[in-house]
Amino acid sequence: MDKEEFFTEDVLADKIYDRAVIRKLLSHVLRYKTSGLLSVFIVLITTVLFLLCPYLFGYAIDHGISKGDTALLYKTAFAILGIETLRLLLVVVQSYNIQAIGQKVMLDIRMELFRHVQSLPVSFFDKNPVGRVVTRLTNDIAAIGELFSAGVIVVIGDIFIIIGIFVAMIMLNWKLAIITLSVFPIIVIIALWFGKHMKSSFREIRRKLASINAYLNENITGMKVIQLFNREKRNYAKFDAINDDYLKEQVKYIRYFAIFQPAINMVNALAVGLVIWYGAARYMHGFLTLGVLVSFLAYIHDLFDPIRDIVEKYNIFQGAMASSERVFGLMEEPAEIDYAISNPAREVPLKDFKGEIEFQNIWFAYHKNDYVLKDISFHIKPGQSVALVGVTGSGKTSIASILTRLYETQKGTILLDRIDIRNIEKTGLRYVVGLVSQDVFLFAGTLRDNITLFNPMSDTKVLETIEVLGLMPFIDRMPGGLDMEIAERGANLSVGERQFISLSRIILYDPQVIILDEATSSMDTISEVLIQNALLKATRDRTSIFIAHRLSTILHCDKIIVLSRGEKVEEGSHEELLRFGGLYSQLYKMYIKENLIEHG
Ligand SMILES: Nc1ncnc2c1ncn2[C@@H]1O[C@H](COP(=O)(O)OP(=O)(O)OP(=O)(O)O)[C@@H](O)[C@H]1O
Ligand SMILES: [Mg+2]
Repeated sequence: MDKEEFFTEDVLADKIYDRAVIRKLLSHVLRYKTSGLLSVFIVLITTVLFLLCPYLFGYAIDHGISKGDTALLYKTAFAILGIETLRLLLVVVQSYNIQAIGQKVMLDIRMELFRHVQSLPVSFFDKNPVGRVVTRLTNDIAAIGELFSAGVIVVIGDIFIIIGIFVAMIMLNWKLAIITLSVFPIIVIIALWFGKHMKSSFREIRRKLASINAYLNENITGMKVIQLFNREKRNYAKFDAINDDYLKEQVKYIRYFAIFQPAINMVNALAVGLVIWYGAARYMHGFLTLGVLVSFLAYIHDLFDPIRDIVEKYNIFQGAMASSERVFGLMEEPAEIDYAISNPAREVPLKDFKGEIEFQNIWFAYHKNDYVLKDISFHIKPGQSVALVGVTGSGKTSIASILTRLYETQKGTILLDRIDIRNIEKTGLRYVVGLVSQDVFLFAGTLRDNITLFNPMSDTKVLETIEVLGLMPFIDRMPGGLDMEIAERGANLSVGERQFISLSRIILYDPQVIILDEATSSMDTISEVLIQNALLKATRDRTSIFIAHRLSTILHCDKIIVLSRGEKVEEGSHEELLRFGGLYSQLYKMYIKENLIEHG
């Protein structure tokens, strides 16, 4: 799937009505039954009040003015004032009420979605770009919110008003009503034409906007590479082209709008003309009162606003439907499975783990049958330290990932203290098995927050642990010590410093089994020795798995397992493997030679 598709895929759904989606939306709204019912009730009342006024105009003319009944005239005037005031008060309540429902529904959906996203397996995030998931949680949910703020209820009100005006007109004078409403087919034709063009144009706009976003996203994230390779001019030109496309599409859209408004106004004028032409003649012949004529004109005036409103909001609704569909789609993404969630074995007492690990004929693939680990078996005794060695891509990190159940294996069994790890709840498993991952991730916050991962822990405890391991020099080097502010993703730190933080994290986390994936790869020799000693202390009584390209760091391990293309090719102590004269001895010889050259 190319980049463009990632973003445009978001734009395609074009249903305005999807029963399943509406049902789910409704289920969220129904949590606020009282407010929901209140808003429906208010819509009904305000519609009736709104329809009353034009009728009263006519009534005032026919029964007040024509008959010289000043008292009645006053009464009607006050009635109109009262009705309008009441209606406007209700509008205030309504708009507050609806916005509040909208915000609450948005909050609910966003929290629900976030919780769900947290439960998704790591493999989901391999396949879905961050941008897309974030869009679901932000823009798509905002679009659902718009459904409320732009007003489903308002549109429902609009529909009521249109129907109400029809009914009122027919009741007042059905002949005049038929003549006036004969313009209605023209409105329908205009609305359909406009709707069709606007829809495709709107879609194009969103597509173009998506490519602007995608392009910007990539350019800003990759700014360093762009500047280093002098790509600025070319990228500028490309952005110019994309932007221009977007502008053209916008202009097209505006053009439709520019035509739509006057077209509807023309029909409005036509309707007024018809009423005056036919109605006035009827009035002059005495078939119609002046009041009815005025009421008609007032109704026509009120008829066109709701029509315009509905047509213009069509897009918002369509967008909201598409967004809802995507949000609920993500919600249905299968969460991580705890296979044996109902299996009693999961209630394994956490503290008693000794850290014995056994891989039994493990097969593992990220995709279908592309096995990156093939029939791997090995055994690690409690407290043993084991090194995983192999060239890039041989499957070392994958072993760490399946042992922590970031990914599930396809065949074979992994045992921790003779318990199938699938029978251990993930949260429990991850208390026991700690992983320092190859790519360190730091959060914006202080050094303290990043070491403790925002867990409450006293500075004394943190510093003590670090002191005991002899790692204080690292802290001393950080300006501000534990209070040092760390930028998003640790941008203000060197790679080695980031690795130090990620190591301190695991030491404070204190798991029974520690896996270190290239944990010291970016450190200078002195720092590495410091860390090495600290690790020896920290892992003395625990099972530990070391993954390292620099073979010097694994010499102390009890056992070395050599991987090649996903298969275990050798296993034994350093001396045994050297004597064996296989891949390990080759790697080691090369390593020694290079280091001799390096250090003269
Ligand atoms: N998330 C992933 N999705 C798909 N394939 C992956 C993923 N991660 C790794 N692979 C593939 O699995 C194979 C083993 O990768 P792994 O990360 O285990 O190698 P490694 O031994 O840790 O390499 P290195 O020494 O470079 O860290 C590689 O061929 C890699 O392309
Ligand atoms: Mg790796």
